[in-house]
Amino acid sequence: MATADGRPFVVLGVSGGIAAYKAVELCRLLVDAGCHVAPVLTEHATRFVGTLTFSALASEPAQTELYGADSVIPHTRLGQSADLVIIAPATAHLLARYAAGFADDLLTATLLATRAPVLVAPAMHTEMWEQPSVVDNLSLLRRRGVEVVEPEVGRLAGGDEGAGRLADPATIAEAALAILDRHQTADLEGRTVVISAGGTREPIDPVRFLTNRSSGKQGHALAFAAAERGATVVLVTSSSLPAPPGVRAVRVETAAQMHEAMLPEAERADAVIMAAAVADFRPASPAATKVKRERGTPQIVLEPTADILGDLVARRKVGQVIVGFAAETDQVLEHAAAKLARKGCDLLVVNDVSAPSVGFDHDTNAVHILAADGSSHAVALSSKRAVADRILDRVNDHLNHSEEKDSR
Ligand code: PMT
Repeated sequence: MATADGRPFVVLGVSGGIAAYKAVELCRLLVDAGCHVAPVLTEHATRFVGTLTFSALASEPAQTELYGADSVIPHTRLGQSADLVIIAPATAHLLARYAAGFADDLLTATLLATRAPVLVAPAMHTEMWEQPSVVDNLSLLRRRGVEVVEPEVGRLAGGDEGAGRLADPATIAEAALAILDRHQTADLEGRTVVISAGGTREPIDPVRFLTNRSSGKQGHALAFAAAERGATVVLVTSSSLPAPPGVRAVRVETAAQMHEAMLPEAERADAVIMAAAVADFRPASPAATKVKRERGTPQIVLEPTADILGDLVARRKVGQVIVGFAAETDQVLEHAAAKLARKGCDLLVVNDVSAPSVGFDHDTNAVHILAADGSSHAVALSSKRAVADRILDRVNDHLNHSEEKDSR
């Protein structure tokens, strides 16, 4: 919620690491960029830098107490007012408390009390940064839509060198301003977007199934981004990832269930995005009881599943934008162009899933977005959330373009 004079309200959370002193510079940069900055320091942060320094530079006095001076429940005021919450530096301890849902100080309680986007800038020693627990906590937060400015490699406290140094305050400020810009656009308000996500599971018998490597991360990132940009979002998903805030999730398992869920949902949609990795074939006659090894190697006969994207295109209503995906491993752009023409969708997002850090299960992706008019946009390796935004930019262009055509 912007302040009365229209400035975006930024909660700047500072946790207790030596890099806390750099958050002072970040505070100044954000204020200079026109943000209302409300600093919140953990108790440990105050051991590295004083509240007075932040209070002197920020838009309101720095706060540290859950039971605060300015209101009885400062975490709800801060959480509900925020357009963005930044945590810089985010220590391993803070990431763990945030991931676990703790609310035992003002900063973690504010994080629970907000629906605003959250940006974390971790900083810690290399050994801590590489710990599986820290890696897992950050990955969990990413899956929930939290954005991350990765630490740099460089000089650390105590003279050590390695990964874990807080990113430059200017880099963090730039990422924060980009999020605010995106969030305040709400360019999909009034639109309904239906998105599919995850790999379907096709039963062989009650305990076994055929599936693929899709985690659902790209589809869920699309749902998160579309909701944040103001759309009403329905997510038909076979993934076990949590639904993003404000998104209605329809849980499915098989291609047939996804088909059955997608068609009626798409009738009300302005845009439909098929990010799911739907099985092309399924066992024709799944066994009713567990197939026993002793009875010899089973012969599994496969039959094709319904082409959901094809059926969506066949039933497309006027002005609706339909986006297909393609997971390719060779002759990527040629195969994608042929698939776009064959499927008849408006946009086709192709990822080369043989490239490092691209496609299945990664937190990052790199894609080309091909349009039926022959144009193409490349999105370089970036977070799945950033890729989602670039896809939604194209979807929005198409929606606006078809409205312009209709009004002529
Ligand atoms: O889920 P993640 O781990 O984040 O990984 C993301 C991803 C790699 C799954 C995603 O980026 C992606 O590429 N999704 C599409 C994968 C796929 O199934 O591609 P395809 O080329 O086999 O299918 C082409 C299109 O037809 C897709 O939009 C697919 O949803 C759709 N399809 C496929 C089969 C079928 N029976 N019905 C369909 O609608």
